[in-house]
Amino acid sequence: MEATARAQPNIALVKYWGKRDTSRNLPAVDSLSLTLADLHTDMRVRFDPSLTADELTVNGVEEPRLLGRVSRCLDDVAGRGRPAAAVDSRTNFPLGAGLASSASAFAALVVAAAAATGRDAGTAELASLAGHASGSAARSLYPGIVLLRAKAGECSGITVSSVAAPDEWPLRVVVAVTETKPKSRASGEAMEISRSTSPFYPRWVDEQPRDLEAALAAVRARDLAAVGRVAEHNCLKMHSVMWTSRPALVYWNAATVDCLETVRRLQAQGTEVFFTIDAGPQVKAVCTAAAEPVVRDALAATTGVQAVLTSGLGAGARVTGERC
Ligand code: PMV
Repeated sequence: MEATARAQPNIALVKYWGKRDTSRNLPAVDSLSLTLADLHTDMRVRFDPSLTADELTVNGVEEPRLLGRVSRCLDDVAGRGRPAAAVDSRTNFPLGAGLASSASAFAALVVAAAAATGRDAGTAELASLAGHASGSAARSLYPGIVLLRAKAGECSGITVSSVAAPDEWPLRVVVAVTETKPKSRASGEAMEISRSTSPFYPRWVDEQPRDLEAALAAVRARDLAAVGRVAEHNCLKMHSVMWTSRPALVYWNAATVDCLETVRRLQAQGTEVFFTIDAGPQVKAVCTAAAEPVVRDALAATTGVQAVLTSGLGAGARVTGERC
């Protein structure tokens, strides 16, 4: 009744922002992401009939605030009649600050919980269960470059697949950490604010298929500059939706903007790199392996950058330990 799973966060190139069904947590738009290799969450789930309630520790500290979401996700995987569980989550990167920690956490949680209960679930079913807890978590079940179709499978609601394995296009991601405190507003709540208040939201949803198809074609052609053009546009469009929400959702800080200027300067010098930013102040620079040292050094030297993390592309969520 105990299992451990590992999952990595993913970084969206074409972003998910907005839900078409809040009760099932279904995204309004398709998205395309990179599953990372070197940042990870290790999740241990132990179902224990002697416990009276679920327990959660995150990096060794009790986390009652996140317990409700975790318990609902465990109910989805193991059924409401399940025993209470002790859940222990450990990450090697900052939480809740726009580094997709909920993606790796819920991807690892569904895989560990299914293994601990002996549930024989396929990756598609686990992705759908993870997506119910955190939309982007569904993508962390798959390796490399991952496509999430929001409306394809009416039954599960989403269809997720890997469009390139990590070794088929060994991109590198350099994360410039500009703030390590958790973000002020959770993305689920923020998406609803955008949907109901931003004048740009309908246009964002309408234009998503065009961005997605352009990004997919660029990925198939392994054309980093073309992926970068659409990814940067899609990122800035999502943030325009956020900025024009009421209240305005501004996740950036001064260092975020300075990092964008650093990436622009590198591009002007011919470096193969582009940026993207999620619901937080960190800047993620995607580049070739050859460009990584110069990108890493330039971002590390940018004012306000507190740390630089680097990663390749990695595997989907998987069981790393099991015990009856
Ligand atoms: O899965 P959530 O609810 O944490 O939302 C993720 C939203 C973004 O990271 C901003 C975009 C994305 O596609 O990952």
